[in-house]
Amino acid sequence: MKKVLALVMALMLMALCGVATAEDAPKIGIAIYNFADNFMTLYRNELHRYLVEDLKIPEENVIIMDGKNDQAEQTNQIDGFIADNVDVMILNLVQTSSAASVIQKVDAAGIPTVFINREPTKEELDLSKLVCYVGADARQSGTFQGEIIAETENKGDFNGNGVVDYAMIMGDPENVDAQYRTEFSIKALEDAGLKVNKLYEQRGDWDQTKGQELAATVLTQFGNDVDVIFCNNDAMALGAYQAIVDNGRTVGKDIYLVGVDALDECQEMVKNGTMTGTVLNDHIGQSHTAADVALKAAKGEPMEQYYWVDYVKVTK
Ligand code: BGC
Repeated sequence: MKKVLALVMALMLMALCGVATAEDAPKIGIAIYNFADNFMTLYRNELHRYLVEDLKIPEENVIIMDGKNDQAEQTNQIDGFIADNVDVMILNLVQTSSAASVIQKVDAAGIPTVFINREPTKEELDLSKLVCYVGADARQSGTFQGEIIAETENKGDFNGNGVVDYAMIMGDPENVDAQYRTEFSIKALEDAGLKVNKLYEQRGDWDQTKGQELAATVLTQFGNDVDVIFCNNDAMALGAYQAIVDNGRTVGKDIYLVGVDALDECQEMVKNGTMTGTVLNDHIGQSHTAADVALKAAKGEPMEQYYWVDYVKVTK
């Protein structure tokens, strides 16, 4: 009797402390589009830490796969999760164009799925009650970028021609984050009553090295005509910064530079003036929401279709 009592008490204590065993805790399949992505690395590490440390999911139940920027590879990983009968999936697709087929697949398998970072369309999410999107509204980040430039002393016009002459370094154009940041940053300038002139626009695929190469081309081609370099993310802005320095230009003195994400390095640069501004892409809020929603869904609770996390403007 004493033994039974001790066992019951031990189990109650485990439940109270939230310690789950691998068998009773949900199994979570997580697919990240590319482990090499700076921002998604912060996101992935926080998602793992939060699930394991704060939510006490046993480490072996949190399976995270690297899609290596290859949709075929990631589709295999998702098929693997389904075959493995995971309780819930958190998916950061390589190609958003594959969303419909992935949604049909997870719906047929009956596995609730939380999409993160790369937003499927509303029509795609409508295909199943078992899916949702957790993310930030990219229109907001673009608007903040434009506002940061509109709020500068010379309103984004160094060369004094009455126009904001800009270069746009885009992420992967299939991604709504890239589309909306490109569109809404310029819309915010126009909404502030400013005239704009697009000198250059190219895809840099979120990549620092490509950001540097493209910015170098811009500066060689257009020289002092360039007032602002907009980058759809901070990784590319870090690359662009290097090109600006190599070209003998100075941020804040003869050119402006903005990104999105608020990587630690870029927050420092905003503080010391080597970057004009950035926009916090809240990987902590997003990863925690994704994990919380996923765990509820694994218990069979219904999900809403969208969960939004705000961006935050970052200036000096
Ligand atoms: C981030 C980028 C990242 C991309 C990956 C965006 O929201 O701002 O830094 O490369 O997501 O999909």
